[in-house]
Amino acid sequence: MFAGAPRLIHRRLRLPHRPRALSAARCISNAGSTRPSPLAFAFDIDGVLLRGTKVLPEAKRALASLDGANALGVKIPYILMTNGGGVGEDERSARLTKQLGVPITPANLIQAHTILKSHAHEYADKNVLVLGGRRDVLRKVAEGYGFRNVYTTLDVKSWNPNVWPFYDLTPSEVASIKPADFSTTPIAAIFVFHDPRNWALDIQIMSDVILSRGLIGAPYTSPDDSVKVVFCNPDLVWRGGFERSRLGQGAFREAFQAVFTALTGKPYPHVQYGKPTTATYDFARGVLQQRIGEAYGEPAARQANFYMVGDNPESDIAGANAAGWSSVLVHTGVYDPASGPPAHAPTHEAPDVEAAVRWAVEREAVRARASG
Ligand code: G3P
Ligand code: MG
Repeated sequence: MFAGAPRLIHRRLRLPHRPRALSAARCISNAGSTRPSPLAFAFDIDGVLLRGTKVLPEAKRALASLDGANALGVKIPYILMTNGGGVGEDERSARLTKQLGVPITPANLIQAHTILKSHAHEYADKNVLVLGGRRDVLRKVAEGYGFRNVYTTLDVKSWNPNVWPFYDLTPSEVASIKPADFSTTPIAAIFVFHDPRNWALDIQIMSDVILSRGLIGAPYTSPDDSVKVVFCNPDLVWRGGFERSRLGQGAFREAFQAVFTALTGKPYPHVQYGKPTTATYDFARGVLQQRIGEAYGEPAARQANFYMVGDNPESDIAGANAAGWSSVLVHTGVYDPASGPPAHAPTHEAPDVEAAVRWAVEREAVRARASG
């Protein structure tokens, strides 16, 4: 696959061809420099750093090089920015730290639902339904964000099993239930935090909540948009441990809307977060600027060039391009160069995250040298 890529890469680079190894002396001489980093990275996770639970070999080397051992000889700030989720940022960052061998904290991790931290206050005292993930893990995450009355579709199934007769709760799901009478517990909003485990159950209950204007089981009325619906990840497909891409939360959204349209004649209006949305890239820009500001001060945070490294043209590249960032598309995930040019043209293509980082850092090193 990669035989042609290097040549292709050089053409795209429009940079003078550069002898492979920058003089060790120059690299070392800048090490520990307090000169501000002229760039910062946002790294996608699935298909860039991980494939399912497997850590891609280039990932550790790429992230380790950001600690100073690079062509700029400076520490380069970065965040991880994924459309994944399903657990809290604390748990996920601790797991990523073990997997990647570098310190990942909630301060430099953005999951698909992290942005809801800044919206929880709007629904703090209202009843909300949270979809996705296992059992009631995301109930606890939502409560951690500030939502106080959080229910799951498993709670609804437990309340009245006839709400969806084709599924029996497992013992561990029964243990996760928060009892409630949904005929008197109005649901004001539905938040799809992560990929649902039971599409049929969830589509049924989403339809019930909307068509009964929040009170499950109440007579159906023509939908009036009173129930807010929020999806956190638009990915139709993503790359996990299997050889081919897998259906993502975006496919669940399509399935829901197809059923809802069949029931009512039109899709239900919803809010979409996650890459490539502007809301999520603006949220990420704020987090990146904070990290740069902490390391090098305000001016550096305003001047730094942002680089998004991703495997999905529809989410990583489209979003970064729209945000005015530089974008690097790698070949270790969703996008397969054999399938033709990507739907959204990146600033650069690279075989993997290590080559992507090297290219971006050298590009900024050339710029730094040129600007003297
Ligand atoms: O469910 C996660 C998936 O949609 C993509 O994750 O890390 O590639 O943005 P990521
Ligand atoms: Mg990805």
